[in-house]
Amino acid sequence: MTDVLHRTGPRTVAEPRRIPAPWVQRPAGLCYGGDYNPEQWPREVWVEDIALMREAGINLVSIGIFSWVLLEPREGEYDFEWLDHLMELLHDAGISVDLGTPTAAPPAWFWKKYPQALPVTREGVTLGAGSRGMASPSSPEYRRAAANITEQLARRYAAHPALVLWHVHNEYGAPVSESYDDSSVAAFRTWLQARYGTLEELNNAWGTLFWGQKYGEWDEIDAPRLSASVSNQAQRLDFRRFTSDALLQCYINERDVIRRYTPTIPVTTNFMATNCLSADYWAWSKEVDIVANDHYLVAERTDNHILLSMDADLTRSLAGNRPWMLMEHSTGAVNWQGRNIAKRPGELARNSLSHLARGADAVMFFQFRASRFGAEKFHSAMLPHAGTGTRIWREVLDLGDDLKKLAAAKGSTVTSRVAILWDVESFWAQDLEWRPSSDLNHRERIEAYYTALWQAGISTDFAHPEADLTGYDLILAPALYLVGDKAAANLKEYVHGGGNLLVSYFSGIVDANDTVPAGALPGALRDVLGLEIHEFLPLRENETVTLSNGAAGTAWSEEIHPGTATVLSLYLDGPAASGPAITRNTFGTGTAWYVSTKIDGADLTAVVLAAVETAGIKTALRPPAGLEVATRGTGEDTFTFLINHAETDAEYPATGRDLLSGETVTGTAVVPAGTVCVIHTVKGK
Ligand code: GLA
Repeated sequence: MTDVLHRTGPRTVAEPRRIPAPWVQRPAGLCYGGDYNPEQWPREVWVEDIALMREAGINLVSIGIFSWVLLEPREGEYDFEWLDHLMELLHDAGISVDLGTPTAAPPAWFWKKYPQALPVTREGVTLGAGSRGMASPSSPEYRRAAANITEQLARRYAAHPALVLWHVHNEYGAPVSESYDDSSVAAFRTWLQARYGTLEELNNAWGTLFWGQKYGEWDEIDAPRLSASVSNQAQRLDFRRFTSDALLQCYINERDVIRRYTPTIPVTTNFMATNCLSADYWAWSKEVDIVANDHYLVAERTDNHILLSMDADLTRSLAGNRPWMLMEHSTGAVNWQGRNIAKRPGELARNSLSHLARGADAVMFFQFRASRFGAEKFHSAMLPHAGTGTRIWREVLDLGDDLKKLAAAKGSTVTSRVAILWDVESFWAQDLEWRPSSDLNHRERIEAYYTALWQAGISTDFAHPEADLTGYDLILAPALYLVGDKAAANLKEYVHGGGNLLVSYFSGIVDANDTVPAGALPGALRDVLGLEIHEFLPLRENETVTLSNGAAGTAWSEEIHPGTATVLSLYLDGPAASGPAITRNTFGTGTAWYVSTKIDGADLTAVVLAAVETAGIKTALRPPAGLEVATRGTGEDTFTFLINHAETDAEYPATGRDLLSGETVTGTAVVPAGTVCVIHTVKGK
């Protein structure tokens, strides 16, 4: 145990353990279900619930996620009777169990005895108990208690026939990730010693000569608390890295206990792929047996179907293109946004099938039965307060039928020739204070470039900038502010060897320590792009500049001096007037484009599609607006999902059998407004 508690080494992760496909052996088809919290209900309701689950075709439920105090009412005293009973009921009904470890919600007795495990915010506020997700990830008391309750569960249910999956904790890092408590500060120092070895190295990496911050002893180093002015940015970045590692260590702490009892049952935890930036999921995905993701719509956005696709594509990429689980989404409105807009009829199915189209083999919801009390009583559920006479319940039944019809797609994968670079360290760094413009926004740029590809019906992966990129014909780097040495060498080699790279502004600006490399910007990408940036020229709010290709730029411009790059478009006005705006460079046998301002809509699509064409990527017919086209397959079987998010019927070329309607489609599929077709074709038939 001591080992586990003190393991704080930086950013070294074990090789992934592969669970052979199909990854969840039971249940047989696609997984369907959700979080199930029956402890909120009398036992006669459990019986009714399980009968309804069977009616809906539910074959997997996640249980026990917040039940620590019920399982261990007092420290060291256990009560498993209720869970034994629940597991038996589910098993008798043929419903498999994804068993939660309840460690996102420690009991009141724990907080009374170990208040030092409560997290402390950057502002110095100690957060109270009485909620969830609130332990300091570095607290030895928390880690010990979490490992203990996990061990009790693993020992008791190891041989239970209903158990098919372990769900460790819940959404690590939400809502609290960084903690500034004493244990965290001590663990941070240990982490820094492992990362840098000497104080001299640390002082160099953090640039502590600036503002006289040089450290003479390790114990002078604190967590980067709120201070009078801007804190050392490299220190803040390291504290983020440390926090991701500390949270990951909490997961590993529990996972390793579980593996001792059930070495062949997969273990996972639910990610929030694009939404929570407190965990570096590239590292995390190597430690889970199955990547599982939670996704919720941003109620007020009207392009949610595109954002959902992006989240799903990132999740698939984190999973190394192996099938993954949609662990949570909602049947209707959530309860935690400003205006919790309800899903419209058919949206539940479109959302679910979009995840499926992008590689998910499980469609799960939060939660089965709507809560009557507690913080989430206004959150939608599979079974709403109004019961089975509701539209939502009917749609839940329909989705269950659809998933049975799509069972053959289980285990099939998605092929993409384009990838967008996604590096959470770069986002962490870019989001720190005192950047050249408040309009710089990595997430916004990634969404814009992703949208251009989505609308063109081009399948897109995400990749870490240090990953092997050679399988891709085109790499996009929107707002990749931080590019470390390894990533810089990787991108250089990729383009030199014939790859195509499309870079947007504020990329390659700093190294892994948030330090500008020597010489002109963009240091890491200067050679590849064949240009130098001499000055950033951010634009005023609402200012627009015109480019010689007719495009309109906003937010940003810069003074560019091309070396080997060819100028494709000039600024006609604004602070960079008559200078280059968009360039293309031949580097080795590859090509690198640079877009130095914020362009959108058709202007952006034109640039992206030009790069797609140069990369030799053959595109299918551009889908009509609002029609999502996504394909997964096995080599033999191909499943083309046509998901019509628009309010008018759509047509798209397709031949095969629509698995949902059962009809044969020859030449053109007609997809009525708001509905989905899944066209199945078999090679050679
Ligand atoms: C998260 C949590 C769930 C629930 C939902 C509500 O995803 O994991 O427990 O709170 O949000 O949307």
